[in-house]
Amino acid sequence: MAIKRRLLFLLLLTAATLIYVFAQETGVATRDITGVWVLHIPNADGTVQDTFLKLSQNGATITGSIVRNYHETKISEGSYRNGKLHLTVNPWRTIVLTYEGTLSDNHLKITFSETGGRENPPSVTVSGERSSEAALSPPAPLPLPALHDVPDNGLARTPPMGWNSWNYFEGKVDDATVRSIADVMVSSGMAKAGYAHVNIDDTWEDGRDEAGNIRANRKFPDIAALAAYVHSKGLKIGIYSSPGPKTCGGYEGSYGHELQDAKTYASWGIDYLKYDWCSAGAIYKDRDMRAAYQKMGEALQSTGRPIVFSLCQYGREKVWTWGAKVGGNLWRTTDDIGDDWPSMSGIGFRQAEISSYMQPGHWNDPDMLEIGNGGMTDDEYRVHMSLWCLLAAPLLAGNDLRKMSDATLAILTNRDVIAVDQDPAARPPKRMVRNNETEVWSRPMQDGSTVVALFNRGEKAKDVTVTWQELGLIGHIQGRDLWKHERVGLSGPTYTTLVPKHGVVMLRIQKG
Ligand code: GLA
Repeated sequence: MAIKRRLLFLLLLTAATLIYVFAQETGVATRDITGVWVLHIPNADGTVQDTFLKLSQNGATITGSIVRNYHETKISEGSYRNGKLHLTVNPWRTIVLTYEGTLSDNHLKITFSETGGRENPPSVTVSGERSSEAALSPPAPLPLPALHDVPDNGLARTPPMGWNSWNYFEGKVDDATVRSIADVMVSSGMAKAGYAHVNIDDTWEDGRDEAGNIRANRKFPDIAALAAYVHSKGLKIGIYSSPGPKTCGGYEGSYGHELQDAKTYASWGIDYLKYDWCSAGAIYKDRDMRAAYQKMGEALQSTGRPIVFSLCQYGREKVWTWGAKVGGNLWRTTDDIGDDWPSMSGIGFRQAEISSYMQPGHWNDPDMLEIGNGGMTDDEYRVHMSLWCLLAAPLLAGNDLRKMSDATLAILTNRDVIAVDQDPAARPPKRMVRNNETEVWSRPMQDGSTVVALFNRGEKAKDVTVTWQELGLIGHIQGRDLWKHERVGLSGPTYTTLVPKHGVVMLRIQKG
């Protein structure tokens, strides 16, 4: 009898365990986590980034999206099992965001981590609460001005040269960094080579005061004083914002405060604004871009302070056809560059076709330089510099100038190559030959000479040949190698030289 009862008890226990396990696996026994949740994730600078989790539970499977800066990204893997929530999201290239945590008393406790980026912040644990669908919607679109041509501001007669914080420092830029970069810009000889702008990219912003004035966060205690310091070095200072309510990094944008922000920048002594589309995409259509940029172009000009206007909307809507008309001095033509050969060469070799849109004061911008950031060889960085200079691209160094190698400094300050970039005639380059993995580009210079670049995009050193006649170079010519800084003997109708893997030979050819 006792044995039977014990058996029955064991049977019931096993059944209960199985039901429990099944319920956990299918999610039946766990709370329904479906709905919108908000997490307040702190940045290292004291600002907070709100992330919304839009979750839908089906058994142990979670689907849905995360929404940051009004931008929605699908959850690639989601589960809620044994009371534990696990979500992974892949918003961009190699970046993976992970949210892991538990739910109790209608509160989430989530550990958030980010991997695969250049700057992987330490993981943080935050609490989250239920929110509403309405919180996910961006503000209603504000009326945009009717289109007209904004006058030329007279700036950037040659492509702007300087430094920008983003490519190396991302969110780690602060007042002390900018001051020390300005110091090194002068002491290293970069300023003498033409680099003049010291530009702060995203992550300087905080919120607004009661009057709606933009405030810098604690990394930048006094931007006007910082600007005065940069000016005292004979340099110029730049800043960053967005036509949307949030920048790409989730910081405060200029939406609805365009004129007010332009006046603030002018009062601080700012000389350059990079204006990045980002969350404006959640409010406006791409076809509204021109009007949104015109609004800031006019606002900047109305301050009376000369401020270079840099458009950043990744080359959408053929910006090269209207960038100058909104008062723009330069406009990005591509998505973000990466510090690797496929990204840099993919961008650079794709620009020839639109290069005829450049003119003094108005430049195509294939994004900032990666030279010296460590992801490419020096040969590859020489290709980067050669291409950007042939394209008359803005030269904004994106490395830590305080600890660059001699080779990096030599590439960035090669005066012969910089002279090609800054040539006052601003005539576009042409791709003359494309032969499997080799390309020959040429660009006419104001003094009547021609710059010829022989590129090898292949994996092995290769002979590359130029036929002078194809470049219109007939008769006696002389050449100078712009990377070796020496004369090159040229005789006969062709010239053949061995170009290293992912390398370039760049010549300036004079007739006579
Ligand atoms: C975008 C821009 C970058 C940089 C970041 C900052 O991705 O294209 O150049 O400004 O935003 O968040």
